Amino acid sequence: MEIESVGYVVGESKPYRAEVIAYRPLMVGEYLYMEYYGYGVLSMVSNSAIGSPVITNDIYDPRDVERIVKSVRGGERMYYFKGVVNILGYLDNEGCKLKIPPIPPPPGTEVVKAPRAVLSKIFSPDKENYLRVGVLLREPSVEVRVDINKIVSRHLGILAMTGMGKSNLVALLAKRIVEKNGTVIIFDYHGEYTSMAIPSISVVKPKVNPRMLSLEEITRLLNIPRNASRQRAAIFECLEGMPENGDFFQILKKCLQMKIPKYGSSAQKVLDMITAYEKYLRRILDENVGDVVDRVAVGAINIVDLSELQVNQADAVVAHWLNRVLNSRKDYVLTNRKGLQVPVVIFVEEAHVFIPNDYETATKREAEAIAREGRKFGIGLAIVSQRPRGLDATVLSQLGNLAILRIVHPEDQNHIARYCEPVFQDIVDELPSLNIGEAILLGEWVKIPTVAKIDYVKEKTSGFDIDAVSIWRTNLGG
Ligand SMILES: Nc1ncnc2c1ncn2[C@@H]1O[C@H](COP(=O)(O)OP(=O)(O)OP(=O)(O)O)[C@@H](O)[C@H]1O
Ligand SMILES: [Mg+2]
Repeated sequence: MEIESVGYVVGESKPYRAEVIAYRPLMVGEYLYMEYYGYGVLSMVSNSAIGSPVITNDIYDPRDVERIVKSVRGGERMYYFKGVVNILGYLDNEGCKLKIPPIPPPPGTEVVKAPRAVLSKIFSPDKENYLRVGVLLREPSVEVRVDINKIVSRHLGILAMTGMGKSNLVALLAKRIVEKNGTVIIFDYHGEYTSMAIPSISVVKPKVNPRMLSLEEITRLLNIPRNASRQRAAIFECLEGMPENGDFFQILKKCLQMKIPKYGSSAQKVLDMITAYEKYLRRILDENVGDVVDRVAVGAINIVDLSELQVNQADAVVAHWLNRVLNSRKDYVLTNRKGLQVPVVIFVEEAHVFIPNDYETATKREAEAIAREGRKFGIGLAIVSQRPRGLDATVLSQLGNLAILRIVHPEDQNHIARYCEPVFQDIVDELPSLNIGEAILLGEWVKIPTVAKIDYVKEKTSGFDIDAVSIWRTNLGG
């Protein structure tokens, strides 16, 4: 294969950065390759300039420029092409991460267009745990594959403005994971995944057994504020003394009635709440359903359909699932008997609602526990949000992998840069220039920060932008 010579290193270079004079204009984001002191090094153009030694900026009459342009004969060089490359590193023998060589490239080092073989080795490792998510944005002939094991062990954040392709990436990763017989759980707040046209989907109703709920989950379901300690105490006592059998709501109501002498209006308030919400709660709470983990279909995409729930209720359901999945995996890993037998990847959409920065939710506590401990028990938490500035800093700082699509809002950018370890300023500066479906992949699941064009999942038919004008037109016709 022909290797294109692009130019030479000039001036004073650093181990991580060099200046290049080129034969042609350099494209920002383009990959270049050079060899020096025995290292085969990949670099990326971070800055590109075109200048002219004759048309300089101390000319003050356009007619002078016109004269120069006319007088330059064909083939004669009127421009120079300069650029700065960031040195990304060389692949060591283990082939894990790219390492920056300790020596800078000496001036005069030839720079060539990165050969496909080098790019493939870095971006598309041929290993079982690497799965395709797209192609390099600037070199579409090179596949981008990510290490799925690292999602399980180091979690994932999918962050972008609305409509930029987060859910498409969720669908893609879920699809790829089940192709490897993996198990996925998606909390589907908008009901947009249930209709996905792939065979390995299992839609799970959000029903939970009330007897398995924690105090936190129950109070959240009943809209009892966190600081209402007497209400919480009353309900706590009733849950503690709950007999094995009998109708949960009847027993609870009777018990609260009996707590009125002790807790007065607080117990009455809870009782009123339950009476008011009972019909609605019975849609979610069902004593006949088993443990949620027993309803997880192994080797499938389990979609927990939250679309009919209010936020508080969805929060209680998600929290309950996270708690049960973590404990069940702990049981299995530690006792090797009962419990969920396989690692899982859990996607939480609208994570700024369930795992917010500035207030407490039932899910937040459970998500923090999984972010901290999940790795030991094979639970990967993938959080998805269009409002990163609203995300809990503790969970954000535990994310070892990120896919960031277009983000324009500076507060969102700052929040990510502050709490997400793999993010640095160069990357933040890139974010507004991305288009739909273009993502920067960072962290352990890639060998180096990668700008990818994510594959489009045609099986995901819901969640499109609504074409209002077309609907109005059709409606008028019909
Ligand atoms: N990788 C992609 N390639 C081509 N088109 C894409 C890609 N990803 C998303 N799109 C298009 O953009 C639309 C919005 O994508 P998606 O629903 O994934 O965005 P989102 O970030 O989840 O938005 P929201 O914040 O509203 O949930 C999709 O319907 C699809 O048409
Ligand atoms: Mg979405």
